[in-house]
Amino acid sequence: MSWKIAMKNLCDTDIAPRVPAFFPYGMESDGRSSTERHVDYCLAAHPKKVLDLGCGDAIWLDSAGERVANIEYVGIDMSKRQIESASRHYNKENIKFIVGDIEETDFGVDEFDVVSSHLVLNFLENPLKSITNIHRAIRPGGALHIAIPAFWRKDSNPGTRCMSRISSHFADFEGKAVPHTGSGRSSFRSEISIRDMLTQAGFQDDNIQFNFEDLVIKGRPVDILSHLTNLMAFAAIDDSDKPRAAAVFLEAAIKEKDTDGNVIFHRPMAFVAAKKPI
Ligand SMILES: C[S@@+](CC[C@H](N)C(=O)[O-])C[C@H]1O[C@@H](n2cnc3c(N)ncnc32)[C@H](O)[C@@H]1O
Repeated sequence: MSWKIAMKNLCDTDIAPRVPAFFPYGMESDGRSSTERHVDYCLAAHPKKVLDLGCGDAIWLDSAGERVANIEYVGIDMSKRQIESASRHYNKENIKFIVGDIEETDFGVDEFDVVSSHLVLNFLENPLKSITNIHRAIRPGGALHIAIPAFWRKDSNPGTRCMSRISSHFADFEGKAVPHTGSGRSSFRSEISIRDMLTQAGFQDDNIQFNFEDLVIKGRPVDILSHLTNLMAFAAIDDSDKPRAAAVFLEAAIKEKDTDGNVIFHRPMAFVAAKKPI
């Protein structure tokens, strides 16, 4: 099985849609969610037409709220179950959902003012090919907004170092997990590799901007365990090894407790904007 199919299976389960803990991103230090920040970046230039890649059950629309009233929104996701859930919540004329694979879809030419992708493009098998198509689909003056984990910033503060120590145990199970095929992960391994890919796809380096923020999860060791077991990386571990993996993560989280019994776990995020000049 490929990572892509494993992810699709996970997103197609009955419990996936509308369970807030399914993709438990944590909150940023100012109390906002990562999606809220990402949507603010997307809406800053008042786009008329937005494409949301890997929209899931349309959490983007939840964060946009009333601001979407005058926007034409298209959400695409390969999970039928996610799209069914999104369509039930958002049955409006200006909102359209497509069940489809980003890597197999032609998004047209000069179609969208903003193309948004929150925690998706790093999962693609060939992101360069997709981003080249997406670049073509963005109108001059428009932009691509990507939110992804910035694991290269794992040593930037005590909270990210704690995340790094605990998450390093995913490597213990790599041989027992669905392999992460394709170049998605390596293309998003650093600011330089992302700039390289975006410029190869047609964007100009001067028009690419990075913003960074940590998602903060402060909780008991079991809360950290719950966060980790909800990640796609945990779902990819073979079922027979999941109990052992859970025990390893819990033990690692217990070692990180402060005197109040809390673990402070920061997940570094990057918010990347690539603008297409007029
Ligand atoms: C981590 S979730 C993020 C969902 C949503 N953007 C959010 O922020 O909650 C990743 C989503 O991307 C979708 N996805 C991953 N690869 C895809 C592909 N190649 N084509 C379409 N959807 C994809 C998955 O089905 C899943 O819904």
